[in-house]
Amino acid sequence: MTRTLITSALPYINGIKHLGNLVGSQLPADLYARYRRARGDEVMFVCATDEHGTPAELAAARAGQAVADYCAQMHEVQADLARRFGLSFDHFGRSSSPQNHRLTQHLAARLGAAGLIEVVEEEQVYSPADGRFLPDRYIEGTCPNCGYDKARGDQCEECTKQLEPTALIAPRSAISGATDLEVRKTRHLFLRQSALRDRLRDWITSKSDWPVLTTSIALKWLDDGDGLRDRGITRDLDWGIPAQFEGAPWEGMEGKVFYVWFDAPIEYISATAEWAEANGMSEKDWKRWWKTGEGAENVRYVQFMGKDNVPFHTLSFPATLMGSGEDWKLVDYIKSFNYLNYDGGQFSTSQGRGVFMDQALEILPADYWRWWLLSHAPENSDSEFTWENFQQSVNKDLADVLGNFVSRVTKFCRSRFGEEVPEGGENGPAEAALIAALAERLRAYEAHMDAIEIRKAASELRAIWVLGNEYLQEAAPWAAFKQDPARAAAIIRLALNLIRLYAVLSAPFIPEAAGRMLAAMQSADDSWPADVEAALQALAPGHGFRVPELLFAKISDEQREEWQQRFAGGRDA
Ligand code: 2FM
Ligand code: ZN
Repeated sequence: MTRTLITSALPYINGIKHLGNLVGSQLPADLYARYRRARGDEVMFVCATDEHGTPAELAAARAGQAVADYCAQMHEVQADLARRFGLSFDHFGRSSSPQNHRLTQHLAARLGAAGLIEVVEEEQVYSPADGRFLPDRYIEGTCPNCGYDKARGDQCEECTKQLEPTALIAPRSAISGATDLEVRKTRHLFLRQSALRDRLRDWITSKSDWPVLTTSIALKWLDDGDGLRDRGITRDLDWGIPAQFEGAPWEGMEGKVFYVWFDAPIEYISATAEWAEANGMSEKDWKRWWKTGEGAENVRYVQFMGKDNVPFHTLSFPATLMGSGEDWKLVDYIKSFNYLNYDGGQFSTSQGRGVFMDQALEILPADYWRWWLLSHAPENSDSEFTWENFQQSVNKDLADVLGNFVSRVTKFCRSRFGEEVPEGGENGPAEAALIAALAERLRAYEAHMDAIEIRKAASELRAIWVLGNEYLQEAAPWAAFKQDPARAAAIIRLALNLIRLYAVLSAPFIPEAAGRMLAAMQSADDSWPADVEAALQALAPGHGFRVPELLFAKISDEQREEWQQRFAGGRDA
């Protein structure tokens, strides 16, 4: 059996994620996980909240809470939203877990023993007004690379360049806004990732099947010299994984913690360990996903993330795993995304701009959003959410094409034949043509899903739905019924079977609606079709069904305008 390990970039703990975050990692990862499961793979799909670092501390301070309490509470909020969006994680963990503390310290110790970590005295920005160092997001200023004026100390969101806090132009404290900053000396652990440059290059260049977006970012970082500079992996912060611990091959790191980007990707592994523990399993059970000597050599590992995360996943995290000298599984395929914009600007957490996961579910069920977001995923370029486009896509694809088909077929059958699959008649040339067209489109759909070409897969699925409508229009069972009821029965029997087939094929995109379709067809058979013709005979004559409640409601112009207004102002951050 094929075994597929899937991870989604870990959402920062600092607040509810917006739809741009969702479509850049968790949602497409879920689509793929659901698809691989449907194809019979053994799947391990993990994610977690990314709880350390300055985003967590700053958000907790704003909320007036202790950071541990804030994280515990926000983890529950995010886990609940993930569940309500149908994100089918095998485990949704926490990077602050004891498992991640242990594994992070273990890997750091291994890197230290391998001579890949050194203690470096470096200069950090210190704010006398705040009485502390200002690492990473504690400092803001103008990006020296692109001029963006809200760049943060660790990375510029605009141009994705990784930064050093001391490189910012016109820096200010993100806590107090203080600008009277000093540079002071402090000692930190540095990961000598430059020592791994050749190994990293060989590994990246061996990945000829990676998307251009992923490889181009990785190689740019590897080659521009700056990208693989040795980096500090500790910070002067309270909240995090202590950098001084028993058995550490260094001294003097008391009061310091590992940098959030050092421990966050390690949580992919730790989350799997959390999963095993939560389910009363042993170490072996999670190691078979992650240690090549213990079963993971047969695993295909796929990661999902936004483009700003690519350098960490192609360079720093692999450097950690390779440098440990242990047999950790490295990623096989990285699917990365551009940005989703919101109505002529950017989605922004700090400015509360756009639609956030909780708000989205207040106005419509998850499947409406899943369908729009996935069918407009920012794969090859940035894409844009507009309310007009959302309305159009929901009304056309979901209500007119899929929903209408289900409703017409089931209602017609109920009124003419009752709530059972009718018998009589047989397939003719129209059915043969439909089956051939479906088989061809199904192959294309599978190929796009296999390649994680999400927009293409969505448009193929839509085309599969359209085939049903066209068939129904042409075969016209309502007309046939008058002269030849047996002919009408054959048409409707096929169409009812199509509903079941649509449920199976659509489930990765719209799992809740697919579940309702299957339930209406009173079928537990959700097996992926090996053969279209056979799949369209799954529901035999006499099999009972129900007319489902309206599958998808149309969005009215009034609703669209109201939502447009409501979300124009932004939310309180
Ligand atoms: O960019 C982000 O949202 C990070 N929290 C992603 C972390 S991914 C992983 F490495 F943990
Ligand atoms: Zn920049």
